[in-house]
Amino acid sequence: MNISFILNNIKVNTDVPGDKPLLRVLREDFDVKSVKEGCGRGECGTCTILLDGVPVTSCMVAAGQVRGRNVTTLEGLESGGYVADLQQVFKESGAIQCGFCTPGFIMSAYALLKVNSSPDRDEIRQAISGNICRCTGYTKIIDAIELAAKYAERNLPEENLSWEDLPEEHLPEENLSGEDLSKEHLPEENLSGEHLSEEHLPGGNL
Ligand code: FES
Ligand code: FES
Repeated sequence: MNISFILNNIKVNTDVPGDKPLLRVLREDFDVKSVKEGCGRGECGTCTILLDGVPVTSCMVAAGQVRGRNVTTLEGLESGGYVADLQQVFKESGAIQCGFCTPGFIMSAYALLKVNSSPDRDEIRQAISGNICRCTGYTKIIDAIELAAKYAERNLPEENLSWEDLPEEHLPEENLSGEDLSKEHLPEENLSGEHLSEEHLPGGNL
C-alpha cells in the first residue's frame, strides 16, 4: 500500500503493507531510532509518538491509519522550550538510567505540557500512566516533569536551572535500587520487566 503522511514536518511516502505497525515503519523504513520496541502490544509506552499531536503507542497503529496525518517523534519536536527543559531535567534528576523508556516519557510529558503548562503531580502521573520504566522508579520522572514545567513557568535562563530548585520533599533518595520501585510508584496494570526483553534494551540512549 502506498502511504503518504507528514513525518516530523516533512511529507514522506512509503510502500508498505497497510497493517504494518507504525513502530516498524518508523524504525525500518525511516530509520527513526528514538521509537523503541518494548512489548509490541501497547503496554509499555516505549514506542510513544504524537499522532496529530496526541500521544499514542505506535506499535498499535497500523501504517494505513496514518495516511495524510501528522506523525511526530522525539526527533521532530521543536528544539528548545519544553523539550530542552525536559531533556535537561531528566538527565539532572536521575530520571534516566538505561534510557530505553525515556523517549516515550518525553513524548508523553511534552504532550501534557503543551496543553497544561502547570500540571499537578496527579495530572503528570495520569499523563505518563501508559509509560513503563523498570529502572528509575516513577518519583524521579514525575519530579523531572514537574521541574520542567516550573522552568517553563518561571522562564529561567538555562544556567540557573538546577535540580536543587525542587522542594525538599520531592528530592529522591540518594541511591535508587530495585527495592525503591515500590508499588505506589508503579503503573496500575502491568509493570513486569518481562515485557522489555533484554534484546531490546540498548546500552543507553535518549
Ligand atoms: S512497544 Fe508499543 S507499547 Fe510497548
Ligand atoms: S530508564 Fe526507564 S527503563 Fe531504563
